[in-house]
Amino acid sequence: KVVQNGTGDPRDFVAKMKAAKKRLVIFYGSQTGTAEEYAIRLAKEAKSRFGLASLVCDPEEYDFENLDQVPEDCAVIFVMATYGEGEPTDNAVQLMQNLTEADFAFSKGEHRLDGLHYVMFGLGNRTYEHYNEIARKLDTALTEAGAKRIGERGEGDDDKSMEEDYLEWKEPMWAAFAAEMNVEEGGGGDTPDFAVTELDSHPPEKVYLGELSARALTRTRGIHDAKNPYPAPITVSKELFSIGADRNCIHIELNIEGSGINYQHGDHVGVWPSNAELDVERFLCTLGLSSPERRDTVIGIESLDPALAKVPFPVPTTYITVLRHYIDISAVAGRQTLGHLAKYAPTPDAEQFLRDVSTDKEVYANVVGNGCLKLAEVLQLAAGNDITVQPTAENTTVWKIPFDMIVSNIPRLQPRYYSISSSPKLYPTSIHVTAVVLKYQSVENPKVRSRLVYGVGTNFLLNLKHAVNGEQIPVHLEPANPAGGTPIYAISGPRGAYNEEAVYKVPIHVRRSTFRLPTNPRSPIIMVGPGTGVAPFRGFVQERVALARRTSEKAGKESLADWGRMSLFYGCRKSSEDFLYKDEWQQYADELGDKFSFNVALSREKFKPDGSKVYVQDLMWDDREALADEILNKKAYVYICGDAKGMAHSVEEKLALILGQAKGGTAEKEGMEAVKLLKERSRLMLDVWS
Ligand code: 2AM
Repeated sequence: KVVQNGTGDPRDFVAKMKAAKKRLVIFYGSQTGTAEEYAIRLAKEAKSRFGLASLVCDPEEYDFENLDQVPEDCAVIFVMATYGEGEPTDNAVQLMQNLTEADFAFSKGEHRLDGLHYVMFGLGNRTYEHYNEIARKLDTALTEAGAKRIGERGEGDDDKSMEEDYLEWKEPMWAAFAAEMNVEEGGGGDTPDFAVTELDSHPPEKVYLGELSARALTRTRGIHDAKNPYPAPITVSKELFSIGADRNCIHIELNIEGSGINYQHGDHVGVWPSNAELDVERFLCTLGLSSPERRDTVIGIESLDPALAKVPFPVPTTYITVLRHYIDISAVAGRQTLGHLAKYAPTPDAEQFLRDVSTDKEVYANVVGNGCLKLAEVLQLAAGNDITVQPTAENTTVWKIPFDMIVSNIPRLQPRYYSISSSPKLYPTSIHVTAVVLKYQSVENPKVRSRLVYGVGTNFLLNLKHAVNGEQIPVHLEPANPAGGTPIYAISGPRGAYNEEAVYKVPIHVRRSTFRLPTNPRSPIIMVGPGTGVAPFRGFVQERVALARRTSEKAGKESLADWGRMSLFYGCRKSSEDFLYKDEWQQYADELGDKFSFNVALSREKFKPDGSKVYVQDLMWDDREALADEILNKKAYVYICGDAKGMAHSVEEKLALILGQAKGGTAEKEGMEAVKLLKERSRLMLDVWS
């Protein structure tokens, strides 16, 4: 292939590397953006440490058959997330097929990969069985084909220690990298990737104020997906229960009529939140941007190296919009970022504070990690400001951090995904979301008292209640109240792009899932979903209710006689407290008759004779004979949804015990084998979160 200046086959990454004179290419298998962030960070470090520029590539956009033609003085870095039950992320499906399949050309000895150098970092979650399987598989395939890995394979655990795993892995890896690539570390570092310019005059209608795509700004029609979310009007927003200050659950209905969006039961909806106003204000004050003119100043942002990092959100925009809608200022501040910002400290003491938390892992974990401190809070604390009062220009020390460093160091605000709790058969024009509002107490430490920490996505949704219920939308601020309450969110940008017709709209898109009912209603269904784990099952039951209505309209109620039983195992604390959709289940049971079995474990109301709690798995045990018969003889489908850590494990164990005993064996052997087989045949499916 003749390639000059990057023209030619756009799927040929080797040609692109050569044309752009890059010695490094970084591929990321990313679903929610985390692996992509790490890929970009590796690219930045290669640049700042060794002066090596990289291509950062989405594997979906390239072919891999010329992997053997990567020049010997170059290297390929793979940053690969393992998703769900050991699956590749959507954008890495092709890559994995090409490189790990049995007839993979490179392993048959035709084209070996002997000259290839590569680096491997995997992102996984230890609560899942197939921990980091994708990175491991790819690593094995490459090694077997003769390629040489630089350093060890890194494995990050999203459940506990992703950031620390990464930081620990990369130092020895870069040392090995320097030796292998024959390069030397040389100063530099911490340089911004973007240039921010203030624009004196710009047509106001072309300034992004929270819109997530060009189409949203110009309001032109187009397909709605993650790159162009749909501003969905919220038609219902209510609390399903609210116990004291600390536990509540919301039910939201998003109107998708006329949007072209369709969904299936079991799909996920991505909701794009904004940051709480308190955090936005704190950040503005800390950067000295809190005056009315400064906050609304229009800015343009350009990438200094477009191949390495694209501007992660639409521009031109304004300072306040970036902080409110586009970057994740609500996350716990990263150790490396704190190190990068130390040089901008307003006083030697503040600088020392940042150096301490960024170099000492333990100090960081105690103060920032346990204290759940956001970046602006750490900066305020370092400068001796009181973080428990409303931040103002008067009480906040200004840090002269160039805005390009902020944009370069803080990742983009990501959508939050929720299991959809409705069926399109009953609700073709709306998507329902059921979610517990995330709030928890931070751990006390000598520098920060324990306080309530609020999850961004669910508190944002909870706050929308005001907008939907015709109340005045509160745009004032409220310091995080130690006694509870919720943080306040500005409902939209100043122009109200999402806020016309007095209906609040929230940007959403649908993500397909494989968590689906079998098409044949004769298959029995076993659903286990305590807490909000019940969300997708509300959709599942509605799906069957709709089918039952249609079937009995045509052929009468008897036509349901050969349907499989649909059993739902639900759990909550008390029937009077957190029982979700209590009245609905009865209605569904009326329509489905004995084809629907609803079982509820009330963990703080009904106890076993020995006083211990009754959980969903205990109710399964009580029904073990019927369940084993359905699974082993009637091809039942089993679904588990909810907490990945405790619940899903206990339920799987109980299932193994039920099946093992039914087969006349043990949980450990026959039981585990049966569970494994069910998974392989996709008759045991999980939708779990941690
Ligand atoms: P608990 O809070 O009383 O312990 C929804 O959160 C329900 O799931 C609650 O009733 C909760 O009980 C229960 N739950 C907590 N841990 C569980 C586990 N390991 N297995 C099953 N249910 C669990």
